[in-house]
Amino acid sequence: MTDKNWTDTQRFDDKAAEWDDNARRAALADAVARAIIAHLPISKPQNALEFGCGTGLVTTRIAPHCARLTAVDSSSEMIRMLGEKIAAGNIVNIEPLHLDFSRPEKATELAGDFDFVFSSMTLHHIPDPASFLHELIGHMSPGGTLSIADLDAEDGFFHDDPSGQVHHGFERSALQAMLESAGFTNVAFITAHLIEKKNRAGEQKAYPIFLVTALKPKA
Ligand SMILES: C[S@@+](CC[C@H](N)C(=O)[O-])C[C@H]1O[C@@H](n2cnc3c(N)ncnc32)[C@H](O)[C@@H]1O
Repeated sequence: MTDKNWTDTQRFDDKAAEWDDNARRAALADAVARAIIAHLPISKPQNALEFGCGTGLVTTRIAPHCARLTAVDSSSEMIRMLGEKIAAGNIVNIEPLHLDFSRPEKATELAGDFDFVFSSMTLHHIPDPASFLHELIGHMSPGGTLSIADLDAEDGFFHDDPSGQVHHGFERSALQAMLESAGFTNVAFITAHLIEKKNRAGEQKAYPIFLVTALKPKA
């Protein structure tokens, strides 16, 4: 399943400087952050992780609810933008990390077990989500919580750029099976947001965004 388009970080590098200027993207991040906060574990996460953090639109909203947060992205420019926000806001509990999480040999660079892992709109960019979820649970502590927001299965016209290799969203039942096969339990979905946009085929459409939560069982 390896294809150069899956791992083409240039596309995100090129968009990083203007990423936050898109109002639809900001509204999505806001809705996802609110949904994640509403589903936070009862005790404050001590060692959180976001994979595919981008410029930190969601990260910076979740960080005040965590003791420490590692924010990972495979685009160096996205990480640079987040670094600027951290410096400007004097934020002390976010550690930005430039890392491609779809490459297991790279993921070993991550220190520690995470008790809370979250993500928004990144899973559909991961070439092999089933293997990735197996890898991810290995980085989590027993009893840890996972919260992932992404597109429900879509018509294939959501993304404006047809050259990028992506999954066309996820069937909830298929993603639930993947999570359970990786070892997660208590899998539950809500609809966190609806993106209304003119798609690549020129049609005005509504694309639902789910938030799925799951637990790594206690040992
Ligand atoms: C659609 S953007 C979402 C960014 C951010 N979560 C937000 O809501 O604004 C997807 C992000 O995932 C990152 N990404 C894609 N594949 C990745 C991988 N294998 N490991 C880490 N980050 C990845 C991209 O660089 C990009 O910043």
